[in-house]
Amino acid sequence: MKFDTPAGSNPIDQLKVVGHPIDRIDGPLKTTGHAPYAYERHDVVANPAYGYVIGAAIAKGRITAMDVGAARAAPGVLAVVTHENAGPLGKGSMNTARLLGGPEIEHYHQAIGVVVAETFEQARDAAALVKVTYAREEGAFDLAAVRDSARKVEQSASAVGDFEGAFAAAPVQLDQTYTTPDQSHAMMEPHASTAAWDGDSVTVWTSNQMIDWGVTDLAKTLNLPKEKVRLVSPFIGGGFGGKLFLRADALLAALGARAAGRPVKVALPRPLMMNNTTHRPATIQRIRIGCTRDGRITAIGHESWSGDLPGGQPETAVDQTRLLYAGANRLTALRLAVLDLPEGNAMRAPGEAPGLMALEIAMDEMAEKLGIDPVEFRIINDTQVDPGQPDRSFSRRQLVECLRLGAERFGWRNRDPVPGRRRNGRWLTGLGMAAAFRNNLVMASGARVRLDRQGRVTVETDMTDIGTGSYTIIAQTAAEMIGVPLEHVTVRLGDSRFPVSAGSGGQWGANSATAGVYAACVKLREAVAQKAGFNTADAVFAEGQVRAGNRSVSLAEAAGEAGLVAEDVMEFGDLAKRYQQSTFGSHFVEVAVDAHTGEVRIRRMLAVCAAGRILNPKSARSQVIGAMTMGVGAALMEELAVDRRHGFFVNHDLAGYEVPVHADIPHQEVIFLDEVDPISSPMKAKGVGELGLCGVGAAIANAIYNATGARVRDYPITLDKYLDRLPDVA
Ligand code: MOS
Repeated sequence: MKFDTPAGSNPIDQLKVVGHPIDRIDGPLKTTGHAPYAYERHDVVANPAYGYVIGAAIAKGRITAMDVGAARAAPGVLAVVTHENAGPLGKGSMNTARLLGGPEIEHYHQAIGVVVAETFEQARDAAALVKVTYAREEGAFDLAAVRDSARKVEQSASAVGDFEGAFAAAPVQLDQTYTTPDQSHAMMEPHASTAAWDGDSVTVWTSNQMIDWGVTDLAKTLNLPKEKVRLVSPFIGGGFGGKLFLRADALLAALGARAAGRPVKVALPRPLMMNNTTHRPATIQRIRIGCTRDGRITAIGHESWSGDLPGGQPETAVDQTRLLYAGANRLTALRLAVLDLPEGNAMRAPGEAPGLMALEIAMDEMAEKLGIDPVEFRIINDTQVDPGQPDRSFSRRQLVECLRLGAERFGWRNRDPVPGRRRNGRWLTGLGMAAAFRNNLVMASGARVRLDRQGRVTVETDMTDIGTGSYTIIAQTAAEMIGVPLEHVTVRLGDSRFPVSAGSGGQWGANSATAGVYAACVKLREAVAQKAGFNTADAVFAEGQVRAGNRSVSLAEAAGEAGLVAEDVMEFGDLAKRYQQSTFGSHFVEVAVDAHTGEVRIRRMLAVCAAGRILNPKSARSQVIGAMTMGVGAALMEELAVDRRHGFFVNHDLAGYEVPVHADIPHQEVIFLDEVDPISSPMKAKGVGELGLCGVGAAIANAIYNATGARVRDYPITLDKYLDRLPDVA
């Protein structure tokens, strides 16, 4: 099915099942420990051996010798695979550095081998016996130091009007630089895979957000035809972008299993993850805003510098600045430097999340210069069209509504505009806010739907559920379309034998994947109507029956002994080009800062989101509160500390890389505006998960400023950066 005109009314609009806050159908499996995760496939793999990954101990250079003799002779060892005996390997298109390094080393903890043994302890013990000699080379590890060597990324540059002239002429100007650090996904489940060969075919039970990307790249890397590779990933303990791509665990499980002649399972030990896998790259962001005295933006410029390995990519931190606020003269640019740190890539709303951490502090600073309330300043500069292409409007844009409702619900009028003046005992308190923005992407998505002789429906698609609720919203979609109770729908996900879906990334998953299920269900309805002798257009699907006129047939009867099956792919036409599709919101935060120690406590948080139809308010809320929590991490805690001499992230475990926990955030509230977006898909939904993160960091930074009067422009906002600037208190 091709979606290329705005959706009219359709069966989803009944909202009998879709749009309801239904509990996750996979919840009981998870809470009872029965959901099979990649490292625990005892249900399908007998007698697996254990692989332990060896990471390179240098950031750049060469292995000059690898002595694996002692490891091979160690108790229980079945195989040792390194670049010397792995055979010729190709390279996938999604990873910048090779997933099995050697003799060249491209980054610290790049995998250089896997030791396979009968037990995990034997594999780990033998891995420690591998002797590696390196010829170390100097590398570039400091973004600030290589900033001037960064090259401009042409496809991300944009210029509208005369930015420099308008900025220079603006009566009120802001020119500030902000930094965000390298960050790690720090998902709960590590990268993990169990691999088993059957002849020259391999099956890998893994933890991956994008099944088809993973199959494609594993086949390329192993030099196999795609049909010889199967990936299965029904449950994922968090991905956050780190599991969008094939990583070393899957490749080394496959190589280890081939060498050992046994199924092999590999989990990356936590201390290997931060440097072996991808991370969110650090940024340096310069923002310039020029305004009239009454608060109209006349010039807005946003430039961002980041680094990556040779052949890598920039953190796209400036894109929201093209679209979020009005202004006739505009400039955005990305610059990319070569760094020899581990590979940078997508993490938790790449682009907008770090971009808004800078932009939305800048907006707060500008509002203060103008003497205009920060909420009002954003409202004054709203635009209903793409400011760079005024003939292109947003499909739906309710930023102003989100700002106004958020301000009202949060009690924004109680904010003291003068910072550092509100005190409650030892606590300085403050309120901060930011706009939320994240683009809505759509991706082709396929599904297969079966109706069996009992009138039960089974949906199969390689879509993944990364903790987001995919199982549940897909079941809701099929139940709505076929007219059966939710309990009569079975959803099977995450297997490359199922139709290729949108996968989980970039907050495109929910809308795109359910649209694919919608397409397959439209076909199944046609097949059922035909079997029942009805015109499809007249047929009504409800309560396990298909009806037309005064005749009805049960779905079980229509399905017959053999059942019916339909498969389709939702393909998206050019609506995403003709309209700018984005999601909008507002974030409000109250903080308390200890006047003596500088310790920050989040008191309460509110997000208001306008993101099309909310398919399941319960799972959507969980997405948003999780994202808000990530925003607290980004604002206050998360930073990979770079060793600039040796080129690695020092705090490579969860003791040193801190993320927020429940106790850090006593109160979170989420409001969804009642919105449908018929331009996004027949579901009229959009992404919402990543929207919940975009803007949070700046709202916290702005609240800390309001509480203390100390403006911190370098994340994370740790107390060492403002302790000497706290107001004097008795
Ligand atoms: Mo997301 S960072 O595209 O998984």
